[in-house]
Amino acid sequence: MADADEQVTENAPFPGFDVSRPSIARTYDYLLGGKDNFAIDRAFGDKFINDLPGSRQIAPDNRGALVRAIREIITSTPVRQFVDLGSGLPTADNVHQVAQRYAPEAKVLYVDNDPIVLAHGRALLAENENTTVLQADLRDPKAIYDSEDARLIDFDQPVAVVFSATLHHVNDDEDPAGLVRFWYDRIASGSYVFISHFRSENDPRSQELEQVLQGSLGRGRWRTDEQILALFGDGFTVLDPGLVPAVNWRNPDAPEELTDWQRLIAAVLAVKN
Ligand SMILES: C[S@@+](CC[C@H](N)C(=O)[O-])C[C@H]1O[C@@H](n2cnc3c(N)ncnc32)[C@H](O)[C@@H]1O
Repeated sequence: MADADEQVTENAPFPGFDVSRPSIARTYDYLLGGKDNFAIDRAFGDKFINDLPGSRQIAPDNRGALVRAIREIITSTPVRQFVDLGSGLPTADNVHQVAQRYAPEAKVLYVDNDPIVLAHGRALLAENENTTVLQADLRDPKAIYDSEDARLIDFDQPVAVVFSATLHHVNDDEDPAGLVRFWYDRIASGSYVFISHFRSENDPRSQELEQVLQGSLGRGRWRTDEQILALFGDGFTVLDPGLVPAVNWRNPDAPEELTDWQRLIAAVLAVKN
């Protein structure tokens, strides 16, 4: 796809793609070294790579924490169902690939509002009856819960709900905590919620990044640790090691010293009481 930009506007292989402005999913894919992106996304991604050297590390650090969280859940809990809200679908080690490596029967509902995820998902999941991908907006959780695709998940049994690098794309006036609460009200006790999130630490770099994202995408919020933890509301127990930089989350290979950029994305896992 990276070499086919011209064809996209004329002869879009997947109609519905907006290639007039960058997309979060495609830019993230570019930052991770993937091929599901267009010139407009690469130009936007290059802003981070060239103008804010080191900031690109936020993408692989986030992805690493997500992979470890899914591995931990599948290997050390009875949970065999995952709802991945704002999943993207980068090239490797997606939630279903990690979970089904250990438990082939694990079920995964992917949700994303970017059509590239649906397009990629159809190819990736063609022969996987335990996994489905739904194009929907995570800010409309009822539409997701009521969808045909959501029937894959038995909400009477524990589930892991994944908000990996997505709630920071929900602005304050869109009530990100209310979205977590929606799922809290529908998942069984013993269910997990994973959140990774842009973390401000009151570092001026986070304000710089927020300006770049809000100025281009109209979204992208760096929240304090207190604000991120408050997204859970009551009724959850936050598990060790709490909310920490994503690269440090249950990572025996974490570097001793983090760059300033590495502190600006954090991860946390909690269980419903
Ligand atoms: C930074 S990527 C993270 C992808 C993946 N969860 C991960 O952590 O590797 C954010 C994803 O959230 C999706 N997203 C952002 N806002 C969304 C919304 N309102 N509804 C559904 N998906 C959304 C984007 O399309 C993108 O795929």
